[in-house]
Amino acid sequence: MPSVTDLVPAPASLRTGAGTVTVPDGARVAADAALRPAARWWRRVSEDAFGLELVPDAGTPAGAADVAFVVAPDLAPGAYRLAVRTGPARVRVEAADLAGAHAAAQTLRQLAGPAAFRRAGDGPLTLPAVHVEDAPRHGWRGVLLDVARHFLPKADVLRFVDLAAAHHLDVVQLHLTDDQGWRVEIERYPRLTEVGAWRRESMVGTWRTGTPDGRPHGGYYTADDLREIVAYARERGITVVPEIDVPGHVQAALAAYPELAARPGAHEVRTTWGISDDVLDPSEASLAFFRDVLDEVCAIFDSPFVALGGDEVPTTAWRERPDVVERAASLGLLDDAGTPDVVRLHGWFLARLADHLRGRGRRAVVWDEAFGPDLPRDVVVTCWRGHAVAATALAAGHDVIMAPEQEVYLDHRASDGPHEPVPVGFVRTVDDVRAFEPLPAAFLESVTTPLRGRLLGAQAQVWTEHLDSARRVDYATFPRLAAFAEAVWSPDAPGFAERLESHLARLDAAGVEYRPLDGPRPWQTRPGVAGHPRDLAAERAAAGWAGLGGWVEGRDGAEPGRSPG
Ligand code: ACM
Repeated sequence: MPSVTDLVPAPASLRTGAGTVTVPDGARVAADAALRPAARWWRRVSEDAFGLELVPDAGTPAGAADVAFVVAPDLAPGAYRLAVRTGPARVRVEAADLAGAHAAAQTLRQLAGPAAFRRAGDGPLTLPAVHVEDAPRHGWRGVLLDVARHFLPKADVLRFVDLAAAHHLDVVQLHLTDDQGWRVEIERYPRLTEVGAWRRESMVGTWRTGTPDGRPHGGYYTADDLREIVAYARERGITVVPEIDVPGHVQAALAAYPELAARPGAHEVRTTWGISDDVLDPSEASLAFFRDVLDEVCAIFDSPFVALGGDEVPTTAWRERPDVVERAASLGLLDDAGTPDVVRLHGWFLARLADHLRGRGRRAVVWDEAFGPDLPRDVVVTCWRGHAVAATALAAGHDVIMAPEQEVYLDHRASDGPHEPVPVGFVRTVDDVRAFEPLPAAFLESVTTPLRGRLLGAQAQVWTEHLDSARRVDYATFPRLAAFAEAVWSPDAPGFAERLESHLARLDAAGVEYRPLDGPRPWQTRPGVAGHPRDLAAERAAAGWAGLGGWVEGRDGAEPGRSPG
């Protein structure tokens, strides 16, 4: 039987009491100042859903109102207690901080039933008597949304943020730039969006077998759009981490400003998937350009973290240029044999931009290819190519975020059935994602070096080469993001499958076109568009924990292409 107390993600503890409580029209909602944004958000969604007026009550001591959000200094950061009981002060949220209050507000919304996810303006707002104690397992509970491969209109991004918050996630990493599109307006360099935001056509299917659709695609967010997204997310307890990908994945920027390219000549915004070996010239001019870009990015985004990409950087174009080889030599970037090593320009280049961000009070985040001797130790490494690289980065003292493609790439196929739309990558069922453990104990036991860095948390990825609309994003993301949320929020809670059944009613009410548990609906298939399935067991058997399914220069050099693309 579906139940409103089937929370997803599961709280650390939930006790149900006797009966229910109906929050009346005109109920007073008070909050300690630090928790007010969470109380405000809860009031607004509840008013929209149930047609009530909930009255903010700044004058009343928070403890005496109908609904109270109260700071409880004894709780750990992000933690909360929530009590719904009959009698006065019916709903009481106690939270250590605003993050905890946001999580409590989301739990309160779930407890009001699926109708709380509608905007029908029709009551009553009834809650079960409960006592919940809850705290997150991991601090960084992220989801990456790739708005570069396919532009997602602003309204859909806001909706995505809402849905991430509904699952107690606290980071949305916006992948804003890539070979196929530049999506952030930069005042100083207008061609980035005038030219870089538009491509001639797109590939339908993978780079291996796809066909061009002959239809232009593009779009970008103005600085005001992004400020709105940031503020909207903040109001829901989510930090938007912007990602500007360098020194590879820059072909859209090179189309706009070809003088930044390692290879001279005209470039066009890339129309196919896979990896471009047109990368930045690792020059002072490129650094100056991207410092300017990052200054504008820092002016828009308040996130303490700014992602610099750093994944999949073929060095072919650098090797072709004697002056770049000479530059590596003059910078002292040598290999073990003492010869100039252009590969080290990759870490060196990112280090310069990380330094720049540090000067602006921000911390750089990079994909794990950028890890190496030249990367400053305060840079956070997002590990997508397996666990071995995480152990090495942690041993070197980096903080890491676990985002392994073997586990939590939600663009990868949701089953091995014949009807999955454009089936790429590994099979990642709902249960597989639920079983995700950022650093499994069995792996940690195999690590002999001391790990000096910290595990900040984990991140699910929604790459969009094959997700060309909000509907396709919904299909790939849900309900697997709910399983991911449970993995990163909840202790090992039982009954996920049953709770998920109840949770689907919430997603239905919210209008999410998730993948049904038994497979796609007919209109969710893409007959005739081939994918590129990969076999996780075979790759694991070959590579062990290293699981180097991702990109490796040299191995993939002759036929470049990120796996799912
Ligand atoms: C990645 O999948 N290239 C981070």
